[in-house]
Amino acid sequence: MLAAHQQSIRWLQGVLIASATLPAMLFAYASWQGYNTTKNVAERQIAQSRDVLTEHALKVFEAVNRSIAETNEIIRDMSDAQIAQNAERLHNRLEKIADESSQIKSLWIFDRSGRAIVNSLDYPAPPIDFSDRDYFKAHVDRDIGTYVGDVLVPRPPYGGAPFFGVSRRRSSPDGSFTGVIQVSVLPEYFEGFYAKIGRDPGSYYSLIRQDGLLVARFPKLNRQASLPPQGDLRKAMQANPEEGTLSLVSKVDGLERTVSYLKLPDLPLYVVAGRDAAAVRAEWLAQVRGHLLFGLPTTAALIFVIALALRRTRRLYDEEGRRQAAEEALKQSQRLEALGQLTGGVAHDFNNLLMVIGGSAKRLERSERDPKQLRSLQMIEAAVQKGESLTKKLLSFSRRRTLSPQVIDLGACVESLRGVLAQSVTGDIEFEVKLPSQPVAVKIDPTELEIALINLTLNARDAMPDGGKILITVERVNSSRDSLPADLRGRFAAVSVLDTGTGISEEIRERIFEPFFTTKPVDKGTGLGLSQVYGFVRQAQGAVTVASEVGRGSRVIMYLPVTDALPERPSSAVVRDPGKLEGIRVLLVEDNPDVAMIATDYLEQCGCSVVRAENAEKALETLNGRNDINLVLSDIAMPGMSGLELARVVRDHHPEIGIVLATGYSDKASRAVEEGFRLIEKPYSLDVMRQSLKAAVNAQKTEACLPTGEITPGKSSPSAAHSSPPQTGASGPPA
Ligand SMILES: Nc1ncnc2c1ncn2[C@@H]1O[C@H](COP(=O)(O)OP(=O)(O)OP(=O)(O)O)[C@@H](O)[C@H]1O
Ligand SMILES: [Mg+2]
Repeated sequence: MLAAHQQSIRWLQGVLIASATLPAMLFAYASWQGYNTTKNVAERQIAQSRDVLTEHALKVFEAVNRSIAETNEIIRDMSDAQIAQNAERLHNRLEKIADESSQIKSLWIFDRSGRAIVNSLDYPAPPIDFSDRDYFKAHVDRDIGTYVGDVLVPRPPYGGAPFFGVSRRRSSPDGSFTGVIQVSVLPEYFEGFYAKIGRDPGSYYSLIRQDGLLVARFPKLNRQASLPPQGDLRKAMQANPEEGTLSLVSKVDGLERTVSYLKLPDLPLYVVAGRDAAAVRAEWLAQVRGHLLFGLPTTAALIFVIALALRRTRRLYDEEGRRQAAEEALKQSQRLEALGQLTGGVAHDFNNLLMVIGGSAKRLERSERDPKQLRSLQMIEAAVQKGESLTKKLLSFSRRRTLSPQVIDLGACVESLRGVLAQSVTGDIEFEVKLPSQPVAVKIDPTELEIALINLTLNARDAMPDGGKILITVERVNSSRDSLPADLRGRFAAVSVLDTGTGISEEIRERIFEPFFTTKPVDKGTGLGLSQVYGFVRQAQGAVTVASEVGRGSRVIMYLPVTDALPERPSSAVVRDPGKLEGIRVLLVEDNPDVAMIATDYLEQCGCSVVRAENAEKALETLNGRNDINLVLSDIAMPGMSGLELARVVRDHHPEIGIVLATGYSDKASRAVEEGFRLIEKPYSLDVMRQSLKAAVNAQKTEACLPTGEITPGKSSPSAAHSSPPQTGASGPPA
C-alpha cells in the first residue's frame, strides 16, 4: 500500500515537473522557429523591396535618358549660336519635357565653356558659369556616356531642393567637345517613393553611386554622406559588384541591419534595400509575447491544478496513514487490554493461592525440625516470593495494581534514581541523565516509575553487549507544539530512555509489551518489564512509544500527564510506637476459606482473638450483635456487599472500630485508598499484616485523643495508608 502511494506521489511529481518543463521546451522551440521564420520573412521582404527599388530606378533613369536623348536630337545639327537664336523655342521644349517627368527638376544645355545656353527653368537663361560643376567637367576630356553627378545645392538665383545631375557630352561630328546636356534629378523624388514603400518599421532603402556617394536614402539623412571605403557594404560591392546580401553594422548611423544590393545595368548606381535587425527582433519578440500571453496562464493553470492534485493526494495519503496508524494503535491497545483482563483475572486467583501456599509453608516451618523438610519449605517460600513478584507485574500490566499516586517532581525523582540506574549498567556503557531546570509535577506512584526505569535501563544495557551509551531525559512536551501519540492531548512530561544498542526489529516491535514476551534466555528475562511500563503509564493516563532502528539503537518514551498541583513533600511524620495487638479482637471478613485460615493464623500469631465472617452481610450482623470488636480486617472483592461498602458502614456507625482492607486486585482498591482506608495487598506477609493492624489500632487511639502527631490514614499521606512498597521481594512470608 505504502509503495503504491509512493509511486502515485512520484508519478504526480513527474507530471508536475513535465507540466512546467514541457511547455518551457515547447516555448523555446517555438521561439527558435519563430525567430528563423521572422528572419526568413524579413529577408524575403528585403529581396522584394530591392526588386521594386530596381524597377523604380530603372524607370526614372530611362525617363531621364529619354529626355537627354530627345534634347540631343532637337539640337543635333545646331551650333551654339543657332541654339542661342532659338533659345526661346528651345526653352519651351525643354520646359515641356521636364514637366512630363516629375522626377526631372530641370533640363540644361551648356556650351563648351560651361555656360547654360538654354534651360527649362528660365528664358533667357542668366549668363552663369557652370564649368566648375562635376556633371560638366566629367565630359570635357572624353565621352564617358551618362554621368551621374554629386548631390548639389542649386546655384543662385536658382533655389529649391538639392539635386544631382545626370549628364551627357555634346560632341561635334568630328568628336570634339561642344558642351553638355544635363538633367537635374531630385533625390527627394526617390526618398518620397522610398518613404511610401517603407512602411514596415526598420525599413532601409538607398540609391548609392558606385563610389559610395549616398544619392538618396530612407530614412533620410540631414547631411550629405558617403559609404566609407572600408565599410562592409563597399567591400561587398567590390567583391561581388553585381549583387549581394549581407548583415552589417552601418558606419553611417551605427545600426545593425541586413541589406541586399543590386547594380543598375549600364549605370554607376546601386539600389540597396534592407531591414534593421532591431526591428526584426522586435517583430519576433512581439510574436514571443503572443505565445507567452496565451501559454503562460495556461501553463500556470496546469501547474496549479497538478500541484493542487499532488497536495490533495499527499494529504489524503497522510490522513490514510494516520488513520491506519491509529487503527493499528487501537488494535494493539485492544489486544493488550484483552491480555490485561486475562492476566488480571489469573493474577487475582494466583494471589489467593500464593497467600495460602506461603502462609501454610510458614505455618509448617514453625513446627518442623527436620532440616531437609525445612529446606523444602524455604524453597516453597522462595518460589512464592517469585510468584508474588510476577503477579505484581501482571497486575501492573493489567492496570489493576493498587497504586499510591503522589504528586512528585519528576526531575527530582529521576535524579534520586540516578545512582541506582548507573550502578545497574556495565562500565563500558556511558550513562547520562538530562533533567529540566524547572520542576515538572506529575501524579504517579514513584515506586512504579522506579521499576519502569530500572527495566528500561536494563533493557538498554542488554541491547549493548559491546558497550554504548544510555541517555535518560526528562522534558516537558505539549500536544499543541510537539508531535505526541495520537490520543494524547495537553501537557505531558516525557521520560525518554535512549540507547545505541542493537535496536528492535520490525517483526517483534508489536509484541514487546505483551506479558512474557522476551527474546532473552529463560533465566535472564521474564518478558514482563515492558508490560509493567505499559500498564504503569496507561494507569497514569499517559502513553509509551518505542522508536527503534536495527543496529542503531532504541528510544522508549513514557509520556506522563503534567499536573498543576504542587509536589508533595515526603512526610516527616514518623509512626511512634505502633501499639500492641495483644488482646485485640479482630473481625476477619474473608470469603475464601483457605485465605481465611491463613489470615486467622497470622492474627493469632499477632496475639489477636479472631471472629470470622464469610461475607460483609454476616460481618454487619456480627458487629450489630456484639460490641467487643476492636478492628475489622476485610477482603474487598466478595460476592454481595463489597469490603469497601462494609468499611464505609463501619466508619459511619462504629467509628471506634479500626478498619484494614485487603485486596488481591480490585478496581475498588484505588477508591478505598482515596477514601482514606488502610489497605494491604494480597498476598500479604505476617509482618505486613502486623504493621498495618498496629497502625490501625494506633490511629483509633490517636483519634480518641487528638492531636498526637502520628499519622492518620487519609489522602494527605497515602504512603502511610498503603501497606507495602510494590517492589519485588519487599514483602515476604512471615519470619
Ligand atoms: N532497548 C532495547 N533494545 C533492544 N531490544 C529491546 C529493548 N527493550 C526491549 N527490548 C526487547 O523487548 C523484549 C521485551 O522486553 P521486556 O523488558 O518486556 O522483557 P525482558 O527484558 O525480556 O525481560 P524482563 O524485563 O522481564 O527482565 C526484550 O526481550 C527485548 O527483545
Ligand atoms: Mg526488561
